Amino acid sequence: MSKPVYKPNKEFAKNARIKNMCEYNDLQEWASEDYEGFWGHYANEKLDWIEPFTNVMDESNFPFVKWFEGGKLNVAAQCIDRHLDTRKNKAAIIFEGDRGDKQIITYLELYYNVNRFANLLKKKFGVKKGDRVVIYMPMIPEAAYAMLACARIGAIHSIVFGGFSAEALRDRIEDAEAKVVLTADGAYRKDKPYMLKPVVDTALEGDTTVEKVLVVERNGEDIEWVAGRDYSYNELIETQDVHCESEVMDSEDPLFLLYTSGSTGKPKGVQHNSAGYILWAQMTMEWVFDVKENDTYWCTADIGWITGHTYIVYGPLAMGATTVMFEGVPTYPDAGRPWKMVEEYKINQFYTAPTAIRVLHKMGEDEPKKYDLSSLKVLGTVGEPIDPPAWKWYYEEVGASKCAIVDTYWQTETGGHIVSPLPGATPIKPACATFPLPGIMAEILDPATGERVEAGETGYMCVTRPWPSMIRGVWGDAERFVKSYFGDVKKDGKPVYFTGDGAVYDEDGYITITGRTDDVINVSGHRMGTAEIEAAIKKHPNVAEVAVVGKPHDIKGEGIFAYIVLKSDDGIADEVEEVKAINNVIKKEIGNIALCDDIVFAPGLPKTRSGKIMRRILRSIAKGEAITQDISTLEDPSVVEKIENMVKSK
Ligand code: WT7
Repeated sequence: MSKPVYKPNKEFAKNARIKNMCEYNDLQEWASEDYEGFWGHYANEKLDWIEPFTNVMDESNFPFVKWFEGGKLNVAAQCIDRHLDTRKNKAAIIFEGDRGDKQIITYLELYYNVNRFANLLKKKFGVKKGDRVVIYMPMIPEAAYAMLACARIGAIHSIVFGGFSAEALRDRIEDAEAKVVLTADGAYRKDKPYMLKPVVDTALEGDTTVEKVLVVERNGEDIEWVAGRDYSYNELIETQDVHCESEVMDSEDPLFLLYTSGSTGKPKGVQHNSAGYILWAQMTMEWVFDVKENDTYWCTADIGWITGHTYIVYGPLAMGATTVMFEGVPTYPDAGRPWKMVEEYKINQFYTAPTAIRVLHKMGEDEPKKYDLSSLKVLGTVGEPIDPPAWKWYYEEVGASKCAIVDTYWQTETGGHIVSPLPGATPIKPACATFPLPGIMAEILDPATGERVEAGETGYMCVTRPWPSMIRGVWGDAERFVKSYFGDVKKDGKPVYFTGDGAVYDEDGYITITGRTDDVINVSGHRMGTAEIEAAIKKHPNVAEVAVVGKPHDIKGEGIFAYIVLKSDDGIADEVEEVKAINNVIKKEIGNIALCDDIVFAPGLPKTRSGKIMRRILRSIAKGEAITQDISTLEDPSVVEKIENMVKSK
């Protein structure tokens, strides 16, 4: 059965940047006929160049690709300085704290705050172009200043999500050989203070490359100060000069690293460079959210993830928009909080994750009715496939059946959206990412032949030509970069970028993402490698073997299901205690975000005779599905039934 189709709102479409599918098709045709002409045009139109580029793209060393060579620019200047003539008193950032405290930061204030921060890093800490700076911060404006200050002086930032543990933070600091850590004492969540600085202290114990730590005092709780290493932002910032010349950067100078999970235990440092990244961040803001000069745009992500990078900070500021930043959680003090904020700030574009939509739906189905949401024009979703019931509620109750829902498909590595509806042009279908954006040659390919799949056949979601905001490398590991993304699919004999996701076309050519094809799971929109969680669990001294799989979860999308074989065969003394002990190890190694939803202490794991764990069987058991595949070739087929019974009786 085909899905219902919702046409774009006519009034909205009239003033949209891309007004109909003809315009979309024209753009896509232009890009496919004159790829470099298309991108060169936009790079000239959208960016302020200190020196113009001389070459649009060089793919002679594919997949190591260079965009806009010869060009010089500064990303912080793109986001701030060039707006000062026309927008100096416009709100750049509207901040709302967990407890309802508010701040409005104009573009001129942003300019001064970022410059002071940049001077502090440069003059007090000696941070230079190319140095790595780790940011471990809550959702406060200073986090955005920190990112832009790095960009201003050419330092490479690497943000680590505040939910990661000291071990995870240490790994990322070590891998990037960071010189400085920017953090806060902590922040507030549900009206209570929580702490970050103690985590940094633990992460820096023993040998470290980190020389200085800057602490923003947000919640004022007591923390330890290490003399000569730790400095108070609040004390130092006031006396910094408000002018700081921006570093002249090459188009391909690195802008940031962001660690993400892959199918092996070690997270990879995804590298994005300057010009291509900021160009696509800005273009997608304009096309996909269609933000207008007086609009107020709100993305609820955390800056610790790529969505926060591209669609809270870099994209909105590059286009001169007003971006809302929120410290709290969407369900506190109740599940009407986001709608209260939409009413209060007259939000025009609201961008969130399916997991949040499901929570808000479940906990506050009627909450949207209590607020005036008439300012809303575009609703966005990202991070995982959204289920039709959540989509319907979002469309009807939040968007009053008049807002487009942009189901934006992309990932850390793509820098910005790659497949998404355009709100004024694309007739949308529920839970469907629809079509590649103009300029993006995204195609679903059959991995065996490299041919485009037929409608209804699942294939691999690929991008067949490099685009400006494509990942430029895995930090310190060129081989892993090539292998992870360009090893699996070839089109016309040439390797193409493979996202790791499966996808399918419907009869109208619409793309629906079906989910990961590798051992990566998506928990509340957070990407976790099962191998990473397994590596953590294995650190428990009594664990002999472990296999982690994803299991459908009402709210989180996927939950974490672990099968564990213990070393001691005299049974488990106390299962509750044992589960607690396992979760404590995960908490220490990765953080609370990776805690298991289910743990089964299995007598063994289903393995082939060559020792390969059959995860497909474990996934089926976790879901409570009947096992259909042949298990007679397993090393010990009886283990399957034993595990099945254990799971059933849970
Ligand atoms: C993975 C990327 C992109 C920012 C947030 C997560 C899944 C993302 C969608 C969507 C279905 C989606 C994919 C992708 N994903 N957006 N609209 N529909 N699935 O970034 O941590 O790099 O995760 O999230 O599986 O590969 P990330």
